[in-house]
Amino acid sequence: MIERTPVDDKGQITRDGIRIYQDADFAGMRTAGALAARILDEIAEHVFPGQTTGELDRLIEAKVTEAGATSATIGYKGYEHASCISINHVVCHGIPGDKKLKDGDILNIDVTVIVDGWYGDTSRMYVAGKLPRKAERLIEITHDALMKGIEVVKPGKTFGDIGYAIQSFVEANRMSVVRDFCGHGLGRVFHAPPNVLHYGRPGSGPRLEEGMFFTIEPMVNLGRPETKVLADDWTAVTRDKSLSAQFEHSVGVTATGVDIFTLSPSGRFHPTYG
Ligand code: MF3
Ligand code: CO
Ligand code: CO
Repeated sequence: MIERTPVDDKGQITRDGIRIYQDADFAGMRTAGALAARILDEIAEHVFPGQTTGELDRLIEAKVTEAGATSATIGYKGYEHASCISINHVVCHGIPGDKKLKDGDILNIDVTVIVDGWYGDTSRMYVAGKLPRKAERLIEITHDALMKGIEVVKPGKTFGDIGYAIQSFVEANRMSVVRDFCGHGLGRVFHAPPNVLHYGRPGSGPRLEEGMFFTIEPMVNLGRPETKVLADDWTAVTRDKSLSAQFEHSVGVTATGVDIFTLSPSGRFHPTYG
């Protein structure tokens, strides 16, 4: 065993442009991640038929402010909300608004907060009213796909190994992985290298090293994987109108495995509709 090379405060950047964070940086990410997760815990009771996504977003923004934190999405590339709320066939980046949730709607709520300069980014699935059977299966497989990706994470594995674990599991269950959006490095910034693909070949892509921070956030469709972005320039939907689901965690690579920064403080990541 050799000692890790000491580096200055800016850390080191790998050949693939991925920043390596230091041991002390994990604490900052855990704090930011825990706040984002707690907000997702607390929003669950406000999801019901007749509720608007705009009201859910206002509640989320208030919780961010209340905690003395900052929303990473307000003002990000012109986005004006503290969350993305993606209903049914919306894949990601749904914009909160006046639309009322209907019984049986499934939705992803995605929140990113900044605490002391550290970014915590997480999303999970909710249901308004009674969960339809085929949506239940989609949500289950999407959650398990994320966890299978996370299980791969440790020094020496590659990003392709993560993508392969997710893709092979999803496709074995006759669902499809969205290719048009991916996870990302994060830490002191919202979106950094690498692109974390949710599909891939074993052994391909950059090698994972201790101190890398990134998200894994697979989007899974019941139908085909193709998406399109609506005229609002944000909302991404499935081209075939099939249902889509997503779960997201922010994680860090440790010496022996993985640190999940966005674990739910009350263990309600999934199911949130129990
Ligand atoms: N939280 C999203 C992600 O997982 C990004 C949302 S950017 C926004 O990367 F502007 F749409 F909010
Ligand atoms: Co993300
Ligand atoms: Co997110």
